[in-house]
Amino acid sequence: MEIKSVGVVGAGQMGNGIAHVMAVAGYDVLLNDISGEALEKAVATIRKNLDRQVSREKIAAEDRDAAMARIRTTETLTDLGETDLVIEAATEREEVKNKIFETLVPSLKPETILTSNTSSISITRLASKTDRPERFMGFHFMNPVPVMSLVELIRGIATDQETYEACLAVVDKLGKTAASAEDFPAFIVNRILMPMINEACYTLLEGVGNVRSIDEAMKLGANHPMGPLELADFIGLDTCLAIMNVLHDGLGDTKYRPCPLLSKYVEAGWLGRKTKRGFYDYRGDEPVPTR
Ligand SMILES: NC(=O)c1ccc[n+]([C@@H]2O[C@H](COP(=O)([O-])OP(=O)(O)OC[C@H]3O[C@@H](n4cnc5c(N)ncnc54)[C@H](O)[C@@H]3O)[C@@H](O)[C@H]2O)c1
Repeated sequence: MEIKSVGVVGAGQMGNGIAHVMAVAGYDVLLNDISGEALEKAVATIRKNLDRQVSREKIAAEDRDAAMARIRTTETLTDLGETDLVIEAATEREEVKNKIFETLVPSLKPETILTSNTSSISITRLASKTDRPERFMGFHFMNPVPVMSLVELIRGIATDQETYEACLAVVDKLGKTAASAEDFPAFIVNRILMPMINEACYTLLEGVGNVRSIDEAMKLGANHPMGPLELADFIGLDTCLAIMNVLHDGLGDTKYRPCPLLSKYVEAGWLGRKTKRGFYDYRGDEPVPTR
């Protein structure tokens, strides 16, 4: 089955990035959000990010204009019924996602593939609430979408081969690389990355190193482009904590217990870059370690 049009539900941080890369790759995009303001902001962000790609000579000005012309927006979810592939990228709450699928399903063509960009919710469980578990899968982009080259493709227990191959072809057309993951908590990237970040928090809690020495050690000693605490601030400490809880609850192994220091930062509202304070304080010209 050839996919020509893509519906994106949720026009937040991830949804606007997904609409951006899909439009550049030549897909007709219909972007939906419950908030008209979020849709306007998403279109402005896409435009700004495309302009930056033009100024860096990553794409030509006419390709930017063609991509912008391929993006339409709607506040009516059922309008996405006309598309060949739907990627749900709304707020990470299971009841929100279930409600979206419940509303959307009656308007979908029988062959439309339904996917979710969820970072942590079971694909099999989301699929089971729809009319098409065999045409449902996880389509997990990394943030920021236009920059990161990986997409995790997650098969639920019922996902059929044709659906998987159609999604794989989309990832290829985006010029990105797919990693196939089975449907277990946090999939591949976060299953490995988050325990490392959590361990960096324990290393800090136990006083083995301070914020700067831990980040320097991992940058220079393991050749990571960013230290784990700097990266945690970039991702959002609330997101890191939520994923550790998913691993802990879903796998039931104490090795995934969230570090109390990570919980304390989240309780303080020090969530990283988005609140201007986390393991570093971003309120001045230069980030300053908070421990
Ligand atoms: N932020 C990340 O680094 C990241 C990375 C990979 C995957 N994800 C996943 O992507 C999804 C979206 O995350 P985000 O960071 O873009 O969140 P966000 O908060 O930036 O955006 C969510 C958007 O969904 C909209 N929304 C809420 N309910 C809706 C509904 N019923 N119908 C339509 N739109 C609705 C909100 O108005 C908002 O604009 C989540 O499932 C998250 O787990 C996030």
